[in-house]
Amino acid sequence: MKPLDVVGLGEVCIDWTIYVEKFPEIDEKIFVKEYGKFVGGVTANFLVAFSRLGGRAGFLGGVGEDENGRLVFEALNKEKIDLKHLKVWKGRRTALNVVIVDGKGRKCIYQDPFLMYNVPDPEDVTEEYLSKALHVHTTAIKVESAVKAFKVAYKLGLTTSLDLEKHVADYGLEPLKNVLKYTTILMPNKLGIRALTGERDLVKAARKIMKYGPEVVVITRGDKGSIVVTGSGTTSVPAFKVRVVDTTGAGDTFNAAFIYAITVKKWDYEKSMIFANAAAALKCTRPGAQSSPTIEEVREFLRSRKISIL
Ligand SMILES: Nc1ncnc2c1ncn2[C@@H]1O[C@H](COP(=O)(O)OP(=O)(O)OP(=O)(O)O)[C@@H](O)[C@H]1O
Ligand SMILES: [Mg+2]
Repeated sequence: MKPLDVVGLGEVCIDWTIYVEKFPEIDEKIFVKEYGKFVGGVTANFLVAFSRLGGRAGFLGGVGEDENGRLVFEALNKEKIDLKHLKVWKGRRTALNVVIVDGKGRKCIYQDPFLMYNVPDPEDVTEEYLSKALHVHTTAIKVESAVKAFKVAYKLGLTTSLDLEKHVADYGLEPLKNVLKYTTILMPNKLGIRALTGERDLVKAARKIMKYGPEVVVITRGDKGSIVVTGSGTTSVPAFKVRVVDTTGAGDTFNAAFIYAITVKKWDYEKSMIFANAAAALKCTRPGAQSSPTIEEVREFLRSRKISIL
């Protein structure tokens, strides 16, 4: 048996979060309700969620040589993520994002460019490490490293998934073609797939992008739920209604739960989608991007909603 289920390549950061009642207008002064300092970053959030559900996760990521880097290490280590390949960049700082969350749990994020600079380089992405896993997940925020990881995964016969958000889709289709070519499951949010394809209709957009490689496209639509598009059809699953506190990391939790369900549990798409929507909904009820649930919490949540899939 392989030692890991998934290796995640990508970003980690500190999220300085400010909770407000509503986003301010220009020149307006508003009161803060609460402050939070959390570990965040799309790939790190994914791995924490994956590990809490019971999966075995390893991280190909990077931090600066500073106090925040140590904080990241401690937090991810506590979550039982394999950190043997966490790179500590000499003379660099750990990425620091500023997140504003409103009274409805919606967020605006000011991203630090060090998110990208701290991602390992292609030469740090080794066959030796990827071969320890069944599946490779990335965000392609550093495209050349993602290409290397997915080419190696392809050679080793591993499945792959790509989280695609708007700020990476904005790189354009051309630089991402070599990643898409080796992507098994593409996981954009609705802004990401629209930015990449210029197509508003989500199913049409998914079909358009499948021509470049992905076998499956899973699109998250916030409080509207999610859609999975495959060669043989489309399945749409609604989101759960919950008391939303903070949606930061909801997509990452959804992606982790979906990949866990498909690759470790071998569940079908519909069951995996319901499971992933439930895990993401639970995350939305808690502050911070890495407050995702355990599998017992998801089971209890589904039971409380009278859904018996687990
Ligand atoms: N308000 C909400 N209520 C219930 N579930 C939600 C809500 N917002 C998000 N979710 C769940 O989380 C999933 C992912 O959300 P979304 O599409 O907003 O991801 P995202 O934009 O990638 O977010 P992030 O990058 O912060 O993780 C949705 O498909 C849904 O299952
Ligand atoms: Mg996301």
